[in-house]
Amino acid sequence: MATGVVFLWFSFFTLLSFTASMAKITPRFPSSIVRPEQLSAVLSTKNQLYKTKYFTQILDHFNFNPKSYQTFQQRYLINDTFWGGAHSNAPIFVYTGNEGDVEWFAQNTGFMFEKAPHFKALLVFIEHRFYGKSIPFGGHKDVAYSNTSTLGYLSSTQALADYATVITDLKKNLSATDCPVVVFGGSYGGMLAAWFRLKYPHITIGALASSSPILSFENITSPNSFNNIVTKDFRSESENCYKVLKGSWDQIENKANQPGGLEALRKSFKICKNYISVSSLEGWLTTAYYYTAMTDYPTASNFISPLPAYPVKQMCKAIDNPTTGNDTFAKLYGAANIYYNHSGTATCFDLADDSDPHGLGGWQWQACTEMIMPMGGNNKESILPESYWNYDNRVTSCKLTYDAVPRPNWITTEFGGHDIKRVLKRFGSNIIFFNGLRDPWSGGGVLENISESIVAIVAKEGAHHVDLRFSTKEDPEWLKDVRKQEVNIIAKWIAQYYQDLAHLSS
Ligand SMILES: *[C@@H]1O[C@H](CO)[C@@H](O)[C@H](O)[C@H]1NC(C)=O
Ligand SMILES: *[C@@H]1O[C@H](CO)[C@@H](O)[C@H](O)[C@H]1NC(C)=O
Ligand SMILES: *[C@@H]1O[C@H](CO)[C@@H](O)[C@H](O)[C@H]1NC(C)=O
Ligand SMILES: *[C@@H]1O[C@H](CO)[C@@H](O)[C@H](O)[C@H]1NC(C)=O
Ligand SMILES: *[C@@H]1O[C@H](CO)[C@@H](O)[C@H](O)[C@H]1NC(C)=O
Ligand SMILES: *[C@@H]1O[C@H](CO)[C@@H](O)[C@H](O)[C@H]1NC(C)=O
Ligand SMILES: *[C@@H]1O[C@H](CO)[C@@H](O)[C@H](O)[C@H]1NC(C)=O
Repeated sequence: MATGVVFLWFSFFTLLSFTASMAKITPRFPSSIVRPEQLSAVLSTKNQLYKTKYFTQILDHFNFNPKSYQTFQQRYLINDTFWGGAHSNAPIFVYTGNEGDVEWFAQNTGFMFEKAPHFKALLVFIEHRFYGKSIPFGGHKDVAYSNTSTLGYLSSTQALADYATVITDLKKNLSATDCPVVVFGGSYGGMLAAWFRLKYPHITIGALASSSPILSFENITSPNSFNNIVTKDFRSESENCYKVLKGSWDQIENKANQPGGLEALRKSFKICKNYISVSSLEGWLTTAYYYTAMTDYPTASNFISPLPAYPVKQMCKAIDNPTTGNDTFAKLYGAANIYYNHSGTATCFDLADDSDPHGLGGWQWQACTEMIMPMGGNNKESILPESYWNYDNRVTSCKLTYDAVPRPNWITTEFGGHDIKRVLKRFGSNIIFFNGLRDPWSGGGVLENISESIVAIVAKEGAHHVDLRFSTKEDPEWLKDVRKQEVNIIAKWIAQYYQDLAHLSS
């Protein structure tokens, strides 16, 4: 049963707050769906990929109350196999950890491992506070997550300050003060990488921010943009596929309202006996469409369950040429099988499964405080029922869950976002924004070049941070090209840095 991680957000919002209407489902943040390819290969060598270290980190960087001086153990992973060393000022590549276990992200960022030999780079992956093993309050997750007065220390600004502190201290320890640091990240980690470059230009010379929807705040991006892209992905496969999906919601609702209808639906979709409701079924289907769109990679990928290459195409194939029966539910079941049961090992689908193997649960707090990304709205054309993003729903559910009041304007106040072209053109430099246009999150990404050195690399066929994944023999030319461009740009930053180091040092 492979509903796993991806279902977490939906079950959270569906069960706790958005009860009846699936139209209000909010996609969970992207990183949860990173699908490590070659996972088994990586896992078998996992212990040789990096060494694990801990740093004594300060709880609160931003005030000097006695409580702020509490500390916690922050985990980071390090690999010095390819490093040219401090004496040659060889570069340091740092991954700015996302909302989950840092090992999971490290094992998925093949790009850094594969390019390290070329750059003679030291690799460092820093874990985001409150995730994985980097839990404040003595490492006790139940304490750290107990209420607003403990969770209050979980924020992007604290995380960025953590990264600045770790990098600075590590460089000091390695006598590597002059080694250039390049930061990398995908998804929320990509947002952090971009923001880190803007806020800490003295600590990093540049950022590769992959699939980082930094424009998904306030009214900068339409709340419908995510679902518009999901719709476009499926519709581009076939008009029939689009129509079947679009027409299915009424049929599900109608069926559920008939006597015995819910049980019949349960059987049609092979849902386990323990639990079913209309909204959970609809959420389960929506999850499959969302995450398949995000991970519409050109090669097979493997996470909790394996996915074939181009899974959106496979889903539409299951709808257009059904092998499981000709009625709508049979077609949807076939499509859902692509996402939930490609391995063919599921015996039934567990809608009550809210397990969180990669420890992503803290995102819910972040999404209730500063990460207010208006999305999940649907226009008439959407494969999901027409609906509107409703900020009040978020407020209600956050109040209920955490007694927290969102600050929807904080991110743009702290990091900007409005008129980004004009603002960053003469201020920022050395950021690569990669986006794949099949990725629904690309709607909130930076898709245009801002300046000579703040560059948008856009891949029409790309999905969610596909560039950072381990390469495979089957990778298409466009993907190889993207990575080549990224390598060339990073090499230029480093070369410029060495020039400045030679000529501008006092
Ligand atoms: C660094 O990563 C490579 C794989 O790219 C691995 O072969 C090597 O053992 C790792 N080194 C350390 C110190 O973990
Ligand atoms: C919040 O949780 C902490 C740690 O469990 C506890 O000490 C504190 O009393 C709680 N505060 C409130 C207001 O419940
Ligand atoms: C630097 O060295 C000190 C002393 O050994 C150690 O406590 C600290 O954790 C090190 N910093 C990092 C980032 O590992
Ligand atoms: C966003 O809202 C602000 C303030 O209400 C308004 O000035 C601005 O024009 C809006 N921008 C867009 C893109 O709708
Ligand atoms: C679906 O219907 C078509 C023609 O109406 C038929 O040829 C096909 O065998 C049916 N498929 C299944 C799986 O029942
Ligand atoms: C998963 O796939 C296998 C092989 O196709 C199939 O036998 C099984 O019934 C499927 N499981 C579910 C829950 O649909
Ligand atoms: C941005 O500029 C680079 C050249 O520096 C170019 O290769 C790329 O296609 C441009 N991106 C967009 C989105 O136009």
